[in-house]
Amino acid sequence: MDVLEEINVKGYIDEPIDPDIDLFDEIDRLKKEKNAIILAHYYQDPDIQDIADYIGDSLGLSQQAAKTDADIIVFAGVHFMAETAKILSPDKKVLLPDVKAGCSLSDSCPPHLFAKFKERYPDHLVITYVNCTAELKALSDIVCTSSNAVQIVESLPKDQKIIFGPDKNLGAYVAKKTGRDLVLWNGACMVHEIFSQQRIIKLKERHPEAKFIAHPECEESILKMADYIGSTTGLLKYTINNPAKEFIVATESGIIHQMEKSNPDKVFIPAPPTNTCACNDCPHMKRNTLEKLYLCIKNELPEVTLPADTIARARKPIERMLEISAKLGL
Ligand code: 13P
Ligand code: SF4
Repeated sequence: MDVLEEINVKGYIDEPIDPDIDLFDEIDRLKKEKNAIILAHYYQDPDIQDIADYIGDSLGLSQQAAKTDADIIVFAGVHFMAETAKILSPDKKVLLPDVKAGCSLSDSCPPHLFAKFKERYPDHLVITYVNCTAELKALSDIVCTSSNAVQIVESLPKDQKIIFGPDKNLGAYVAKKTGRDLVLWNGACMVHEIFSQQRIIKLKERHPEAKFIAHPECEESILKMADYIGSTTGLLKYTINNPAKEFIVATESGIIHQMEKSNPDKVFIPAPPTNTCACNDCPHMKRNTLEKLYLCIKNELPEVTLPADTIARARKPIERMLEISAKLGL
């Protein structure tokens, strides 16, 4: 199997690694040698977060991708995030340690079906959550993330009709917060949809002083119980600024690494899902490993590329989001 075939089948290069090398040192050396930057989402493994140049939520990562002067962006996240980086920095090489790191929410909205759905609402503006393919962004008027969705809807005239996709839970949350009647696409994230209301209620009873914090991709029944709702960065900031000593966290468990680093005297309990696991990991995010990251920066593969016309069409709604966010100081 040649390298590209291997990437096609496995999603990454499966090359033996010298057991004597220190992966942290090697990645650091390669990063400097190649003028590369590592951008990592909070849901990545702690090792990857610790070697990253920037860790953030989807908005922060897009802002970094748009302004970096590195030649290579190594995106430790999932495919739609690396695509967004490519759209914002088309002249740079964008790498993803495992190109099969997808997203169930993005998969729940195939662009050809969304295009038909959109035809039913010709007078509606289309806002899409960044967790979608480049092709879907290209069908949108404005992109948003969980940290600016409410403000982006509020920035539009009150009588503006809006389609919101692909996440029905975030859409329902935004509709409630803004008092707008949004037409929602029926998509969801597999990680945020399986938190167990009953197990969380029991956990809250055992930790009566704990604050319960949740990501807006969770279902309404979970959000109703929350003391705070926000993007991953919002949740992290809340744990820093709130004097509580215990927090029950309803989002992917990777964020707890930064919460513990920022608050060594506080306790973080992952909110339990409906299965028998104690916490909730995203299988797509966790496809990336330190070993794959090393091989990716060393071989400059797998690379994420997009057709020039998709980049041009998808760029406009992302830039609109970044402009509104900059105006609002987000
Ligand atoms: P944010 O980090 O933007 O809150 O997004 C969460 C998420 O599910 C990313 O896949
Ligand atoms: Fe997609 Fe959910 Fe995983 Fe985020 S946590 S990458 S929305 S499946």
